Amino acid sequence: MAQTELHQNLYTLIEKEISELQIPKLPVTLYAPYSYTMETGGKRIRPFLVLLACGICKGDVLDAIPSALAVEILHNFTLVHDDIMDSAETRRGNPSVFNKWDQNTAILSGDVMFADAFRQLEFYGSNDSFSKQEYAEINKTFTKATITVCEGQALDMDFVDRSDVDHHEYIQMIKGKTSALLACSLKLGAISAHATESQSDILFSLGTEMGIAFQIQDDLLDAIADPGKFGKRVCGDIYEGKKTYLTILALERADKEQKEFIESVLSEENSKEKEVDAVLQLMKELEVIADTALKVEQHYNKAIDSLNNFEDSEYKQELKNLLIFLKNRDH
Ligand code: IPE
Ligand code: IPE
Ligand code: MG
Ligand code: MG
Ligand code: MG
Repeated sequence: MAQTELHQNLYTLIEKEISELQIPKLPVTLYAPYSYTMETGGKRIRPFLVLLACGICKGDVLDAIPSALAVEILHNFTLVHDDIMDSAETRRGNPSVFNKWDQNTAILSGDVMFADAFRQLEFYGSNDSFSKQEYAEINKTFTKATITVCEGQALDMDFVDRSDVDHHEYIQMIKGKTSALLACSLKLGAISAHATESQSDILFSLGTEMGIAFQIQDDLLDAIADPGKFGKRVCGDIYEGKKTYLTILALERADKEQKEFIESVLSEENSKEKEVDAVLQLMKELEVIADTALKVEQHYNKAIDSLNNFEDSEYKQELKNLLIFLKNRDH
């Protein structure tokens, strides 16, 4: 991504604030996984969104920092628990927390991260430039997003055991597990800038569209990304029997025999590489891969178009650049 000065400044600020979180050292088993997770990178999209939304609404980005930290810590917490739920041994090219330590350690470290995310928002309660209503709105937005993410994750798990999940249910699920926190990030940025309700709402909807695109693309890349760049096991979702946009479309389009084959591979405990490759090949033949890529593009375009509601600014341009960059990402 071509980096503007604003992009660099905001990312430097985010990394500085994360490095100054002062995560305690003891007990080691509680806090070392927390530090490890926060330090092993990630794209930092959510805190970036918070700061951009604040800038788009003409606020002071420093007021948005506690929200940026809250969403990034909460996001990282969801990944720690998600990897347990998905039996995912790698995350960002490194061992996942439950794999590096153990499951109980990952559960409890995740819990402390969850609480620490909420703690960041105390700033708005003790800062005179934020009204009681704004503080309440920030808390409400963050709490609601957290609950919606959990609901999405629950549906995601439930879908594993069902073969009749339709398209509509899938979108509902990803609006929860992925869109909710992206939309919340943008809305928190807007409230930090004392934006109008209508500005907050437009940014929230933009985040929802972006999240749908982002998650369908995550599903797509899971199947077709370059293993060297991906940082996770390619086709992990097929091995795990996950209902993704790809598997749902494939099951919809498959004939009886193909459907039985796909279902058998998805439900198998230890699928063989050859079978997983055959499912992927079938997805290509059924034009699932091409149509999924198109769907991703459409949702990103919708998000980009909604930026027309805002005055031109370098922050708006930066968000547009991010959406275009994400639209074109390959890992
Ligand atoms: C991964 O999110 C989880 C999803 C919701 C798809 P990201 O791709 O933003 O994760 P990191 O933080 O950059 O690793
Ligand atoms: C993760 O979705 C969503 C949350 C953690 C809330 P996935 O399970 O698809 O994400 P990856 O593929 O592990 O990053
Ligand atoms: Mg996962
Ligand atoms: Mg998951
Ligand atoms: Mg995934």
